[in-house]
Amino acid sequence: MPSRAVGLGPARMLALMAELPTQLKNGFREGTEQTPPLPPGLRQVTVAGMGGSAIAGDLVTSLTSAETELDLQVVRSYELPRPIRAPGWLVAISYSGNTQETLHAYAEAGRRGMPRLAITSGGELGERAARDGVPILAVPSGGPPRAWVGFLLGTLLGALDAAFPRSNEARLKEAAQELSARWPELAEEGGLPARLAAAVGARLPTICAEPSLAGLARRWKTQVEENAKRGATFEILPEMFHNAVVGWDRAGVLDRSSRALLFLDWSGSLPQIRPRREYLMGLLQERKVPVVHVPLASLDHLGAILEGIAVGDLFSLALARQDGIDPMPTEAIDRMKAATGGGAPAAPSKRSRPARKRATR
Ligand code: F6R
Repeated sequence: MPSRAVGLGPARMLALMAELPTQLKNGFREGTEQTPPLPPGLRQVTVAGMGGSAIAGDLVTSLTSAETELDLQVVRSYELPRPIRAPGWLVAISYSGNTQETLHAYAEAGRRGMPRLAITSGGELGERAARDGVPILAVPSGGPPRAWVGFLLGTLLGALDAAFPRSNEARLKEAAQELSARWPELAEEGGLPARLAAAVGARLPTICAEPSLAGLARRWKTQVEENAKRGATFEILPEMFHNAVVGWDRAGVLDRSSRALLFLDWSGSLPQIRPRREYLMGLLQERKVPVVHVPLASLDHLGAILEGIAVGDLFSLALARQDGIDPMPTEAIDRMKAATGGGAPAAPSKRSRPARKRATR
């Protein structure tokens, strides 16, 4: 059972969340400086990772699929799909460096002769990469993996910067500045995330977004789960019109009082989705299902993703506060890893970096 003695956990997590803009910039620098040049014809890049490490891959995929020729996909498993092979690259992301699934996929990519990168704070992955001469993009250690989303996202974006028509450096800097300027207003007691949490209350939140924000919707879900220690789900439009809508259509008294839908609203959403989205809103209103809108103001896709991370992180923190839950520990994950072997948490030494061996491959 989650502890009710929250202590310094909420303040520590809030401080880590506030580092998002700085982490982005530092991570981007690490990614651009430590990654060998992307071969001109590179089309396939696979990110292998789990949980708070893999999410950086989903978030970057939203951008690469819209703006580049790269086929970037995220594998959350031990096995790599058969078509994943050289000359495609494998980027293994594991904050702790000790995650079983990621280590397995890293080894498999080696057997397939794929060029690899390791994004990690050390652990077994750091050791193996140093031994294998694989470039290490170093993440500072200290705090849980999910609190390093800014650094991981920045690093991956930096590593793949050359695949974009223009460098993301200035864009990222601008988005980070906008976020820093908005942070005090978002983090205050009556800010948007706190109001969203109050509107959701004790209900099970389902986060809905269109495909360009799919990674963000997943991030919201996992942050609620890990920080507030309660359930959450996510749905992607337009797919939800073809299945989930049936369940919501029959939303009875029980659903109405126990579930809430949150829509991540962004002006860059697909225009084709709008009529069906309006239809769904009408239906939900008729069924009296609580709907909460999350406005993402940035006109830029990357800006909207960063804004969404900040609002979602603070939302999860506000839910934890409502329930008197410490957002920091995720003992259930630690117990699972201990019981099933492998996956020790990252070393607690703050801001230390893994030994790095520069290499070209
Ligand atoms: C997030 C979290 C987990 C881990 C996951 C993989 O804070 O604790 O989701 O991210 O168990 O571990 P790493 O990221 O160390 O590879």
